[in-house]
Amino acid sequence: METMKSARKDDTGDVGRDLSEQLKAVTQQIHIQAENTQLMLSYQRGQITLPQYKALLCSLYMIYKALEEELDRNSSHPAVAPIYFPQELARLEALEKDLEHFLGLDWRKKVVVPAATLRYEQRLRKIGEESPELLLPHAYTRYLGDLSGGQVLGKITQKSLGLSTPDGLSFFSFPGVSSPNRFKQLYRSRMNSVELTEEERAALLEEAVTAFEFNIQVFDDLQKMLSVSTETADQSEGNVVKTGLFPSTPIMQFTVGLCVALTTIGMGIYAF
Ligand code: HEM
Repeated sequence: METMKSARKDDTGDVGRDLSEQLKAVTQQIHIQAENTQLMLSYQRGQITLPQYKALLCSLYMIYKALEEELDRNSSHPAVAPIYFPQELARLEALEKDLEHFLGLDWRKKVVVPAATLRYEQRLRKIGEESPELLLPHAYTRYLGDLSGGQVLGKITQKSLGLSTPDGLSFFSFPGVSSPNRFKQLYRSRMNSVELTEEERAALLEEAVTAFEFNIQVFDDLQKMLSVSTETADQSEGNVVKTGLFPSTPIMQFTVGLCVALTTIGMGIYAF
């Protein structure tokens, strides 16, 4: 019986799989690892604390600032243009709002991130500069994650922190996306429309795994940073992201886009 064989063929005549399917397949294992980091496990158990959430917001801020600035700068690149959805997806303003809510008006002075976050940020800057097509797997990893598990995490955060209003939770809300599932479908089809050489495709799939690794390292570093901080933190303040909590600790200060390295501590906690 003649059935409609729907296996699509790419230009070389080989049976090809969609990039979206390949990305999902290649990151399946490491997604499980990411879900099982201490920080994400605490999350899923509803045990996220305010210091943890504030620290996570600081790191997400640095990551999205780099990701979105690089996407903006490369928005007409052929591998970026189809997946460039600033109206629907951009998180930077939401993160700024949430940070202001939790850290106050002078939140910029209080942003502290671990070394892994800086490495992630540097990677994003480098690929934005040298190989913008690799921004695609980074955007995929963060945005499709935010539109998937991230939705549940938003509700859990609200409950865990006992917040009665949505203030401080803008990160999880996508007012420009009415149906996350439909949007994910659109995003996948846009990713699939990007023309790539076999080499580019392989590099891109590898970078998706790297993007997950960066996230895992950030979560692990945050966990370490918080366990050190809680030992030294002023309990009444309960705020681990204040530079003042490390009075004798060498830190890196970041002022108006300028990174002035003062000194670093062994574990690598940075204030901006
Ligand atoms: C508590 C932790 C997490 C939970 C419970 C979770 C859960 C989920 C769920 C339920 C989906 C939807 C699967 C589907 O529609 O087939 C998903 C997809 C996804 N998640 Fe997560 N996730 C978590 C952490 C993460 C992290 C840390 C990242 C990366 C930074 C991530 C990235 C993704 C991506 C990229 C997708 C889309 C996969 C695809 O359809 O291609 N997730 N996640």
